[in-house]
Amino acid sequence: MEKRELLYEGKAKKLFLTDDPDLVISEFKDSLTAFNGEKKSSEIGKGALNNKISTELFKLLESHGIQTHFVQMLDDNNMLHTKVDVILIEVIVRNIATGSLTRNLGIEDGTVLPFTLVEFDYKNDDLGDPKLNDQHALILGLVEHQDELDKLRRMARQINDILHPFFFEKGLNLVDFKLEFGKDSNGNIILIDEISPDNCRFWDVKSGEKMDKDRFRQGLGGVTVAYEQVLNRILGK
Ligand code: C5P
Repeated sequence: MEKRELLYEGKAKKLFLTDDPDLVISEFKDSLTAFNGEKKSSEIGKGALNNKISTELFKLLESHGIQTHFVQMLDDNNMLHTKVDVILIEVIVRNIATGSLTRNLGIEDGTVLPFTLVEFDYKNDDLGDPKLNDQHALILGLVEHQDELDKLRRMARQINDILHPFFFEKGLNLVDFKLEFGKDSNGNIILIDEISPDNCRFWDVKSGEKMDKDRFRQGLGGVTVAYEQVLNRILGK
């Protein structure tokens, strides 16, 4: 597979065309950003860890019947995947209250939610990714029909039902995470982007220690050490 011209550079990945019009390559970068790009840094090895973690999790989800864009991990930093039309909705799944949920609604940090909460944010950096309800999403034309929003919610819950017990067994509490979806050339809605400690929160079941990007957001240090532990636990090491 030949890596061709750069299509787009995001905060955590570069996207390249390939010699196949249906396939693209994501190059996972070492850069770390938080607070809509206001806090920036870089950690050697972070990109490779996220590529490996995402690869394992996409394979796990595929084995449970979730359609994803994943095709193949090419090397440490590069993943080959299906080209899609990105749906500009960030689907946030929460099992435990923390982060913006505690800030916005005053729910005490660490409260186990009575049921899994699925929220939509508008994927729009200029507007700071505001919350969306279904009518906002339809008025903005982010999807065509209500049943597509229902499908995003259904897939997000299915993914949580697979990932939450998977991580719990490995001593990690999957607190919350962000998913992105796109439409492939057949119009199917599939899971895209990455699933990594950059867009999930993991708390160690025993110690409560944070094992995700909150270490960077909150200046706790030990970012890549934590990401490496997440990978090792996924691999059962
Ligand atoms: O900040 P907030 O509490 O809303 O984040 C919820 C979850 O979604 C966290 O796991 C966070 O890492 C993820 N997220 C993300 N990208 C965003 C917003 C949130 O990965 N733009």
